[in-house]
Formats: sequence, structure tokens, C-alpha cells
Amino acid sequence: MPRKIIIDTDPGQDDAVAILLALASPEEMTVLGITAVAGNVPLPLTQKNARIVCELAGKVDVPVFAGCDAPIKRKLVTAEHVHGKTGLDGPPMADPVMPLQSQHAVDFIVETLRREPAGTVTLCPLGPLTNIAVAFQKAPDIVARVQEIVLMGGAYFEVGNITPAAEFNIYVDPEAAEIVFKSGVPLVVMPLDVTHKALTSKARVDAFRHLGTQVGDMVAAWTDFFERFDVAKYGSQGAPLHDPCVIAYLIKPDLFSGRHINVAIETHSDLTLGMTVADWWGVTDRPKNAMFMGGVDADGFYALLTERLARL
Ligand code: RIB
Ligand code: CA
Repeated sequence: MPRKIIIDTDPGQDDAVAILLALASPEEMTVLGITAVAGNVPLPLTQKNARIVCELAGKVDVPVFAGCDAPIKRKLVTAEHVHGKTGLDGPPMADPVMPLQSQHAVDFIVETLRREPAGTVTLCPLGPLTNIAVAFQKAPDIVARVQEIVLMGGAYFEVGNITPAAEFNIYVDPEAAEIVFKSGVPLVVMPLDVTHKALTSKARVDAFRHLGTQVGDMVAAWTDFFERFDVAKYGSQGAPLHDPCVIAYLIKPDLFSGRHINVAIETHSDLTLGMTVADWWGVTDRPKNAMFMGGVDADGFYALLTERLARL
């Protein structure tokens, strides 16, 4: 029975690959909707990019919604330096034709969780957690109805990527992250600790290109663009495909390993704002609220990704 999911996203080249992977895997998941949030680039671009990706996958029946255009209480911080001005820099792209839904993403999330049987919808946030947190604030009754949240965000042993202490998705809206991490909803967290072990490489990107499809060519062009930032910054060969780790987990959880621990969010200190303080060694009595991933079978991850992208 496929899992019913809502993908909440700020495309972003890696978000785009995650959305393609989800849309290529109908046996494992049914995408009830895609909700865009401001993050990598402003909301007008993330909602447009989400529709571009659905059209690329040939899945224009998936409803796309625009959500919050700014964090709950802070000014939006974007990441054009990583993703380019459009958020999907790399290959040239035509404007989308499929429509944007008129309903606000937050209302779609609330309505869907109230309509579907309790415990049957998984939320997959791939960007800042603003839409999820605002939905929980607006309709507290939906919190207990969420099956699970599988999100990309945070960092502990790998430290931050937007500040020395914080990962981008959490840093943009720490208050939203705190609401989600304290909600009591079962959490599976894909932090930089694991996504930085899922690096692209020439062979892995060539495998995308050798698919000989428009999807393969676009993904190869996106990863070529996306990796220039990480290679320059970390001197690494290749870039971390962060967000597809969330979807790969839904398909093949055994690709990943981690620990069920307490993760708390710093929301006050200017120095460490947005840090995910992970009690990896169990030195506090704070409640265990998250399966915090640390390991991944990178070859298995790329094999799965390539095999599924070939279907589109
Ligand atoms: O820090 C990485 C995360 O920030 C990824 O989700 C990427 O798309 C950006 O949103
Ligand atoms: Ca993202």
C-alpha cells in the first residue's frame, strides 16, 4: 500500500531531484500535493520551480500550492549563492504551464490531514519548516493525525552550512523548527551528517546523463551547477544531494542508519541560532523525539536514484 505524502519544498536543485524521485515511485508513495515555501529563493520562484519539476516528470495532475513567503517571525534568508538566481540554475527552462492551486498551502495541509484517516499521511519537508509550523499553530488538532515527518534539516557532527553552527533549513526559521521538533510527531531527520555522505561524483552524474532522457540530462545539469558551490567551499569532489535522502528513505529505509535521540533547536543565541542540538550520547533526560540519521549506503542511494529516474 503506497504511503500518502505531502512534499513541502523550496526548489532548489536538490529539492527538484527529490520531487522527481517521489513522482517516479508510485508503488511506494502517493504524492497528495506539493506545497512550496520560501527558502532557497523567494516563494514566487519556489512555487514556479515546483511546477516546472512536475511538468518535467510528466505529472501535471499533482496539485502545487504556494505557502508562506517568510519565516514566522524573522526576515527571509535565501541561498541564491548556492542555487542561482532562479533557484534551478543550470539548464535553460521554460515557464510552467500547469496552474498553481488557489488554496494556500497551509490550508491544504490542514484540510488534507483532517480528511485523510488519522495516521495515514506523512509530511516530507525539504526546506524551512514555516508551512508545517503555521499549519500546526492554526489547527492543533491535526498534529496527532500526522503519521510521521521525514525531513531534511539540521547538522550535528557535520556542523552548519549557512553559519558555523546551523544548517540552512533550520536556520531560516528556527521558531518553526522548534514547533515541529516539540510537536510530538514521530520525526525522521536527514541532517548534513548524512547528506554530506551522499556526494555526487563524475561517475554518478555521468550515470544520470547516460539515461539519455530529458530528466537525466536536466538532473545532470542541475547537479553540475549545484556542486560548484560545495566543491569550492569544502574542496570535496561532488555535492551532497540533500533532499533526495528524504524520499530514498521512504523507498529503502535500510539505506540509512542513525539513532533515536533528543534534538532541540537553538532559537535565541545570535552565535548558534538554528543549531540542532542533538543529544547523540544521551547525556540529558530530554525526551527522545527524532530518529537522527548519520550513515548512508551512498552507492545504494545513487543506484536507487538512477534506476528510478530512468522511469520518467
Ligand atoms: O542545507 C541544505 C538544505 O537547504 C537543502 O534542503 C537545500 O535545498 C536547501 O533548502
Ligand atoms: Ca530544500
